[in-house]
Amino acid sequence: MRDVAVIGYGLTKFGELWPVPLRDLFAEAAKACLTDAGIDREKLQSAYIGCMTSGLFNAQEHLASILTDYAGLGGVAATRVESACASGGAAFRAAYLEVASGASDFVMAGGVEKMNDGADATFCLSTAADQEYEVFHGVTFPGLYAMIAHAHMHKYGTTPEQLAAVAVKNHVNGAKNPYAQFPVEITEQTVLGAVRVAEPLGLFDCSPVTDGAACVMLCPVDVAKELGKPIIKVIGSGQATDSIALHDRTDFAAIPVVKRAAERAFAQAGLTIDDVDFCEVHDCFTIAEIVCTEELGLFPRGQGGPAAVEGLTALDGKHPVNTSGGLKSKGHPVGATGVAQICELVQQLSGRAGDRQLKSPRIGLAQNMGGSGGSSTVHILEVVS
Ligand code: COA
Repeated sequence: MRDVAVIGYGLTKFGELWPVPLRDLFAEAAKACLTDAGIDREKLQSAYIGCMTSGLFNAQEHLASILTDYAGLGGVAATRVESACASGGAAFRAAYLEVASGASDFVMAGGVEKMNDGADATFCLSTAADQEYEVFHGVTFPGLYAMIAHAHMHKYGTTPEQLAAVAVKNHVNGAKNPYAQFPVEITEQTVLGAVRVAEPLGLFDCSPVTDGAACVMLCPVDVAKELGKPIIKVIGSGQATDSIALHDRTDFAAIPVVKRAAERAFAQAGLTIDDVDFCEVHDCFTIAEIVCTEELGLFPRGQGGPAAVEGLTALDGKHPVNTSGGLKSKGHPVGATGVAQICELVQQLSGRAGDRQLKSPRIGLAQNMGGSGGSSTVHILEVVS
């Protein structure tokens, strides 16, 4: 396996971008990524593009070909990758493995989703849950995460105020992110007083429905050095699966796939969570951030909520989480999210995160999740120069 670096990134603004077609979203992020990496498009050998369900959102399949062709990358080997909301993380892992294997030198990992295009977003998203045993009975993702929240509250005493602290913190961070869908600060009262979606989750406990795209460029570390690029190295890559349906798991207050993916990434990196300076985690709902931080080992079980209230996960906290604003404030174009998380790691590790810049972070972790925990990826990046 060769050492692999991320040498550039490109993002679109996230939001309700009704006039912008799916293909334009990808093209904008891909072009920005090529420019940032300083790579001619002729050098690109391969692309992996995460997208959950363009067939349902936009009636468009055969995605990798149409997107790369429209972006001016025609002829490149290109593959669409799907793992529900973890599609972007899975695309990044595929790109990483292709470079690490020695098969290609320049590979792009992209992610895109255009969720506002007229389709019923709740229905489209629900296809990532278990149709026969969950969706048939009327459950959708807010309902599934509400069950996780209820279980966590019952088992550990987690409170609505602790859930709200996650949303408030992520909006503080997102307000400093020019790409965010909702770059505004909110109060605890806004969260607690918001319209209910699925008790105990209200509007501000939920990630929004978002259009957006993200891309990153990978190449071998040796090649990155020749190009004079700062070396942001991929030091750990883990992926795991679990049952899709909650009822097949023993503990609703846990999401074990996150721990499984993290263990694999940490084993490769030879590190523990104590070595990580900051994390992007999959806060599709506020309870998800709490459980994911526990699964990653940042906090003992049941302590994710109190940690958010105490400010431990804030920008200036001991363990900054979701410096980008997370899915809650930045937005969650499902197939793009995993790659956008890597973009945040690159921005932080290269000192380009603007007002939300952490002080000299060295190691960042990105955790991306599919559905209510049926799949997850974890990537660890280190700046080595
Ligand atoms: N956070 C904050 N504000 C939100 C929001 C969110 N998650 N979602 C919508 N809004 C705002 C809109 O901007 C709009 O504001 P405006 O009236 O000032 O323009 C208002 O709330 C109503 O928006 P609307 O689009 O009508 O909301 P909705 O009721 O159709 O959808 C949710 C709200 C929470 C149901 C929807 O965002 C949702 O389903 N989120 C979860 C997505 C999901 O499951 N992702 C996969 C996770 S596994």
